[in-house]
Amino acid sequence: MNETKPWIPPFALISALLAHGLSWLLLAFTPWPSVLGLSFPALAWIHLVALGWLTMTALAVMVHVIPGFLDTDWALEPVARWSLLPFGLGTLVLVSGFLGIGAWAFQAGAGLLIGGIVGFMTPAFITMARYQVPKGTKVPYRFAFSLVLSALLLAATLGGLMAWALAGAPWSHLLATLLPLHALLAGGGWLSLLILGVSARTIFPVTGRKRFLLPFHVAISSGFLGGLILLLLGLLPGLAHTAWRWLGLLLAGGAALLYLIDIAKVLWKAPNPNRPPQAFIGASLVYFVATMVLGAGVNAGLSAWQAPLAFVALVGWMGQSINGYSLHIGIRLMLTMVRGDEDETAPGEVVNPRWSWTSFVLFQSAILWGTGVLLAGRGEWLPLSGILGLLGWFWLMGSVGLAYRKARLLGPS
Ligand code: HEM
Ligand code: HEM
Repeated sequence: MNETKPWIPPFALISALLAHGLSWLLLAFTPWPSVLGLSFPALAWIHLVALGWLTMTALAVMVHVIPGFLDTDWALEPVARWSLLPFGLGTLVLVSGFLGIGAWAFQAGAGLLIGGIVGFMTPAFITMARYQVPKGTKVPYRFAFSLVLSALLLAATLGGLMAWALAGAPWSHLLATLLPLHALLAGGGWLSLLILGVSARTIFPVTGRKRFLLPFHVAISSGFLGGLILLLLGLLPGLAHTAWRWLGLLLAGGAALLYLIDIAKVLWKAPNPNRPPQAFIGASLVYFVATMVLGAGVNAGLSAWQAPLAFVALVGWMGQSINGYSLHIGIRLMLTMVRGDEDETAPGEVVNPRWSWTSFVLFQSAILWGTGVLLAGRGEWLPLSGILGLLGWFWLMGSVGLAYRKARLLGPS
């Protein structure tokens, strides 16, 4: 692997951090009208978070994780890294489309997004196809990465079809069918499964525990995937039946509970004394289970729960888990860039815990308030959540900024 290039593209991570901040700002200025289902301001926020913040972080981290986990080199690495540019631009254009700049933005945004995703996946699949699985390896990485990336591509293709319909294509009657399939593939098959899988390894540096195989990883990933497939089948025209969906929810919900237990055991009395990243991950586990409860409500016909479901799933479950891992892995990336590739400084030595804890409290208040007002059907109060979250983001940035200054003061290691 190239030793001088940062192992995760820093510009992608920085743009993801900016999208995170912007998403709170958007919430502060665009209350969600309390309508059944999701309004355009809600969809703008959903895609800024899901694509600009979460997926951008995930793809940037995958630039390191794919060759790192497989212990191989990228094929066409510059293509994978540069594809993040059209992906980011596409996110900006699509979100602007939902904010009303013009119907053209749906097509242009979706086109750039799909181009970026295909641009990332092509080298990823060539890398995986070239990889010779070492004898005796039990970990099905190739299957796992192909699975999550294919879910993303499929979700984006359905998103593109919907975007085209919103720009005037004659298949707008398909929107109602495509919407839940798209949301499940993107939020479940891509983002959730990726976090469930990658955390099977990344939870160990964050907690300072010695690496072992999480006892339930295989049951959790397979249970969640099985549940997702049943949910998708239960939504397909012709097959659609609530019994499939209830069974799917039971399986996926069971997987979420098991994940909570599995990760909580590793977090409990973790040897690494740097607690804030662990607290973020702990909170995300609770939001994951809450997501399943709200999903059950939507399946039972409570359409008003769709907005709190999307909110808590994205910023609670996925967002807090990404915050937790970023506070460890992002700081490690910064340390190696400032202090050199050989640096082994623990993030806890440079991060000011008071700043991280303040951001933790502000974010959790923002999420609880936001979920509460959406459940109560009072979307007009959502901007307070945006303000709390924005303050949390400033404190998070302050924490990263102070860590950077301390790393610079320490000098090269
Ligand atoms: C990967 C992360 C993504 C997530 C988590 C996500 C999530 C969602 C959600 C929750 C909805 C609303 C579903 C509902 O009302 O039941 C939605 C709708 C939509 N998404 Fe995405 N999405 C993602 C990616 C994309 C991409 C890549 C595109 C474009 C290529 C896209 C385009 C759309 C469009 C056009 C709609 C429909 C809006 C409407 O008909 O009112 N999404 N998405
Ligand atoms: C249905 C989905 C999945 C199944 C059936 C599955 C299965 C497995 C199995 C059999 C192992 C090896 C167990 C052993 O060593 O005995 C494993 C380990 C692992 N899997 Fe998965 N997995 C799934 C999803 C994922 C996903 C989506 C990812 C990430 C993209 C992932 C990441 C990992 C990691 C990091 C390990 C190794 C942990 C370590 O370093 O010890 N898995 N998985």
